Amino acid sequence: MQTIQKITSDIYYIGSCDTHHHLFENIYPIPNGMSYNSYLITDDKTVLMDTCDTSVREQFLENLMAALNGRTLDYVFVHHMEPDHCATLDEVLTLFPQAQVVCNAKTQTMIGQFFNRDISGRVISVKEGDTLSSGRHTFSFFMAPMVHWPEVMVSYDETDKVLFSADAFGSFGITNECLFADQRDIEKDWLPEARRYYANIVGKYGPSVQTLIKKASGLDIQMICPLHGPIWRQNLPWLLDKYQKWSTYTPEEKGVVIVYGSIYGHTKNAAEVLAQKLSQQGLSNIRLYDVSQIDLSYIIAEAFRFSHLVLASITYNNGIFPPMESVLLALKAHNLQNRKIALIQNGSWAPASGKLMSALLSDMKGIKLCNQTITITSALKPNQAEEIERLSIELLSDETSE
Ligand code: FEO
Repeated sequence: MQTIQKITSDIYYIGSCDTHHHLFENIYPIPNGMSYNSYLITDDKTVLMDTCDTSVREQFLENLMAALNGRTLDYVFVHHMEPDHCATLDEVLTLFPQAQVVCNAKTQTMIGQFFNRDISGRVISVKEGDTLSSGRHTFSFFMAPMVHWPEVMVSYDETDKVLFSADAFGSFGITNECLFADQRDIEKDWLPEARRYYANIVGKYGPSVQTLIKKASGLDIQMICPLHGPIWRQNLPWLLDKYQKWSTYTPEEKGVVIVYGSIYGHTKNAAEVLAQKLSQQGLSNIRLYDVSQIDLSYIIAEAFRFSHLVLASITYNNGIFPPMESVLLALKAHNLQNRKIALIQNGSWAPASGKLMSALLSDMKGIKLCNQTITITSALKPNQAEEIERLSIELLSDETSE
C-alpha cells in the first residue's frame, strides 16, 4: 500500500525507508535504518523532486503512482546524481516518456555516464539563479557544488518557502514513525545521527557548505526538505547554527574525546587514568572509546562535536595500531580543524606510535598538539601518575603553542 504523506497543500512526501541494509554507501553503519526522500508537487504541472535508491524502489514507485493519481509526470528535478537518489531515474523516465529532466549541465553529463539513455531532447538545463514555474509554484535554483558531489544543486520554492536541499541537512535514520524532525526530541533523537551523517558524508567540504549557507541566508525558508532524514519546519535557526559550526570546524562544546587502541589493556588503563584526572579537574564532557570496538564514523562525529581529543595507541609492527591509524587518516580526510590534541604512546621495546601520530597530524589546520606525549613501556607505572596529571592540565589549558 502507498505510504505518501501530505506536507503542504500540494507537496507530498513519496520517499521510503530502508531497514534491511546494515551499511549506507557500503561503509557507514545504519542501525536506525536510512530514509531516501522524494517529493511530488501536484501543481498545474507535476514535479518530482528526485527519485530513490533501489532498496526502496518498489515503495517509491507505488507512492509516485498514488500521488500522481492518474496524472502524468511533467518535470523531474535532479538535485544530485548519486545513485542513492537516482538509481530509479532511468525507470521513471521510461514510465513517463514526456517528462522533462530539470538539472544542470554537470548532472546531464552524469546521467549519460550512469545510464544508456540520450536525454538531450528532454532536458531543461538550469544554472545559478534560474527560475521555473509549475503554475502556483515558482522554483529558483542554486548550485551547491561538493555538497556532496560536484553537480549538486538545491531548489527553493518561492511560493511555499521550501528549500529542497539535496544531501544538506540530511541524517541517518528512518522517518517512518515521524516525518518531521519536531515530532521527536531533536537533541536526543536526531542530533547524533544528523551530526554523524554530516561529519562523515560532507564534513570534508566545509567551505562548500559555507557557500550554500550564505546563499540560503538570503532566502525566507520556512521548511527544509532534504534527501535523507526528517523534514525541518521548526528549529531552523538551531539547525543552521549546527551547520555553521560543523562547516567551520568549530566545536559544539568543550569536552575531551579519548580514543584508545589497546590489545592487552595497558594503553586502555592509561586512557582511563587520564579520564579520571580530567574529571578531577571538573570536566564533565569526557568520552572514552576503544577504537577496536566502535565504528570509525562515530569517532569522526564525536571529533566534530568536541573541542579536545586524546589519541592513545600501542606501537604495532613499528607503526600505529592499524585501527588507530584509520582514525587519524579519517580525521585528515574529513578535514578536521581547530582542535587541541594529546597523545599517548605505548611500546614494549621501541615506542614509535606517538611520533608517527604526530607526523600525521602535523599538516592539519588549526591543530594544537600538547607539548607532552606520555610514553608507556608496556604498562603505566604508579610513578607516572604525576605525568598523566600534568598532561591533563596542559590539555585543558590555553597555553600550548600551535
Ligand atoms: Fe545521499 Fe550524496 O547522496
